[in-house]
This record gives sequence, structure tokens and C-alpha cells, in this order.
Amino acid sequence: MLEINKCKDYQEMSDAVADKVEKQLLKKSEYCLSDNTWCDDSRFILPTGSTPIGLYKELVNRDLDWSDAITYNLDEYLDNTIHEQSYFHFMNENLFKHINIDEDNIWFPYDIAVWPDKEYGENVDLCLLGIGSNGHIAFNEPGSSFESKTRVVDLTEQTIQDNSRFFPSIDDVPTKAITMGLKPIMSSKKIILMANGKHKKDILHKALYGEITEDVPASILQTHTNVGVFYCD
Ligand code: GLP
Repeated sequence: MLEINKCKDYQEMSDAVADKVEKQLLKKSEYCLSDNTWCDDSRFILPTGSTPIGLYKELVNRDLDWSDAITYNLDEYLDNTIHEQSYFHFMNENLFKHINIDEDNIWFPYDIAVWPDKEYGENVDLCLLGIGSNGHIAFNEPGSSFESKTRVVDLTEQTIQDNSRFFPSIDDVPTKAITMGLKPIMSSKKIILMANGKHKKDILHKALYGEITEDVPASILQTHTNVGVFYCD
């Protein structure tokens, strides 16, 4: 089921999603307080890109307790020469270095080998997503199987072009990445999709109301039972 929220601006969208993250962090703590025998962590899947920057800023300002949180990032470039543009660097600068998360609880898809018989980032409490201009989520490009697992992928020309704004030139953009698959993303208990800007309007509409097809990877979200969409233009 999709619950669609139009926000008046980027700040309102970032605040609204920060409320959901805060609620999830508190939910587990309250649960821990009411039950002395078992204390579970809050498990999140986190995105990069320009869209979640305001959210991360808001979360840092709220000074929340992340000591029991576990995070799995959606994706990472496969190129170890791009340190400053790596998604690990992005996450560290925008979120991790400002919060009290245990660094042993921060995971990236290249850590997949740690769980040989378990899917990376499976069954998390809350998965946050952005959407690419071609409908990709994480780096699951158009044509990705709805059954896809975490794996190495080639980026499309469109994505390389879109992401070139973060690099000195288009030739510096990595052409390969490792991405969480659509299957583990869909195993999340709750999913929040964020989209910011007029240029995302058409693809968002296609993903939310159009045909459910592997040509528009985000359209798979229509089949999930608990998706909140927050967008603004
Ligand atoms: C990249 C990331 C995606 C992200 C997308 C949108 O391709 N792999 O996870 O959703 O960019 O980025 P932006 O938020 O900058 O539009």
C-alpha cells in the first residue's frame, strides 16, 4: 500500500521523514524499556544522493540516540580511487561522524561476504530510498530483475550523466557499482521513498501509478504493503 504525501518544500519533506526515523529509533528503545529480557536494535537501510542531505542534517540537529541502530547502505561505487565521492565518505560527512552510532553497526554492500548465507540488509525496520531519473532505486537500473540480490552492476549512461555533477568531469564517474538488490529492499518492514524537484515528477508518477515493470524498477514499490512517499517540487 502506498501512502503519498506532497510536502510544501524540501525542509518539510526532510522534517517529515526525520520524524519517521526518530519514531523508529524511539520505538525500539521503548520496547527495550518495557521488556527487560530482550532488546532489539533498529535496523535501517540508508540512501545517498542529494535528496537525503536535508534529512541527515535534520537528524543530526535532533541529536538522537543511535547507539542501538544498525545501518545498511544501499550502494557504493566500485572504484577505490574516488575516495571523496565514495558513498562511504558521503555518509560519514553527512551523518555518521555526527551521531553516536557504533561504527561496527555500519554496513555497506561490499561487506556482503560477512553473511555468506544471509541476504545483506534483509528484513530491516525502515528502508529509506531516493529515486533516479530513470526510475532506479539504489543502483538497480531499468531491466533489473524484481528478484535481484545484492550484486555488482554496470551503470547506465543516464545515471553516469546524472551523477557527473558530483565529479570534475563525466570521465571521472565510475561505471560500475555494488548495489543492494530489489528483493532485499522489498523485504523491509516499512519503506519510505523521497523525491525532490520538478525533474522527478514524471518518473515518480510513472513509478507510483504506471505499469509495474522491471523497466521502471521503483514501480515494484506498488506491490509492498507499507510504503510512504514524501515528495516536493
Ligand atoms: C544515485 C543513488 C540512488 C539515488 C539516486 C538519486 O544514483 N544510487 O540511491 O536515489 O542517485 O539521486 P538524487 O537524490 O541526487 O537525485
